[in-house]
Amino acid sequence: MAAAHQLQPTDLRLGRIVRLLMEHATVVVSGTKIAQEISSSRSEVWRLIQQLRGLGVDVAGQPASGYRLRSVPDLLLPEVLRSLLRGTIFDAHLLHFYKIGSTNTAAMAAAAEGAPEGTVFLAEEQTTGRGRGANSWQSPRSTGIYCSAVLRPSLPPSEVLVLSLAAGLAVRAAIQQVDSRVAPDLKWPNDVLIDGKKVCGILTEMNAEATRARYIVVGVGLNVNQASFPKELSATSLRLTTGSEWSRVDLVAALLKSLDREYRQLVEDSDARESILRRFAASSSWVEGKDVRIEENGSSFEGTTEGLDQRGFLLVRTAKGVQTVLSGTVREK
Ligand code: BTN
Repeated sequence: MAAAHQLQPTDLRLGRIVRLLMEHATVVVSGTKIAQEISSSRSEVWRLIQQLRGLGVDVAGQPASGYRLRSVPDLLLPEVLRSLLRGTIFDAHLLHFYKIGSTNTAAMAAAAEGAPEGTVFLAEEQTTGRGRGANSWQSPRSTGIYCSAVLRPSLPPSEVLVLSLAAGLAVRAAIQQVDSRVAPDLKWPNDVLIDGKKVCGILTEMNAEATRARYIVVGVGLNVNQASFPKELSATSLRLTTGSEWSRVDLVAALLKSLDREYRQLVEDSDARESILRRFAASSSWVEGKDVRIEENGSSFEGTTEGLDQRGFLLVRTAKGVQTVLSGTVREK
């Protein structure tokens, strides 16, 4: 039953204990008080504290003395994130997993079973994280952000690319909100680069009828505190960029708030699509005037990028005229 085990969300009591200890950061909180707050016994509290320690949360103390946090943990616990996301479509259905196969796979399955719009799957670690195409996504424990959101817009499938481009803008805005010195570059359709190296990938998946999307999952993999990458990956992390650790809690809150803003505009405002395309082009060194090779469906061609069309597809001028790139990989020539 490995799959079922992997789909076990985090015991909500862990988040409540962390929150309680954070609220009393400078004092020791007795086992009895914690037990009362989470409606459990003191021995159960001890077991849960041991579980938190196993997950890297630095808790001092023992049953007789009570407990105290030595440092603020950077776990993406719903109990911690909920108040930061109040008023967004993401504040009600946050699901957290210590280990999962893939947050996108889980979110797609949940959406098929009726999970409401705004449901978010967050994981500390993915064992089979998925990238675009047949690629995998390295998802080591508590160093990156692995996050998938269920959306149910009444949009035709042809508009979903624009939503995906908007997710890139949301990631870029989140990074800049946390540290305005960092200047991420958007690579069509879905990569976020820093100094030419990939810091984030976005996997947008949907289930659609001919004229409307039934549900969409936007999955974001953001490299946050990784200390190194194999050279062949040409990847980087925010920590490698700035030389110091980043708060994943701050980043994920900024990301979901920003995605909420982009998404609401897209579904509510008829001018939003144009604005997304314009802002994407303005935030990308790849959309205009870049010499590229496009690899699509087993073949490839070369040319120079010439903007986005109205639906968000990339236009590339080649010796045979302007070609429209519908999917595929864009590489610098
Ligand atoms: C890519 O650039 O190829 C897209 C990578 C997307 C990775 C994220 S991590 C969270 C979500 N769950 C997955 O299995 N994939 C996406």
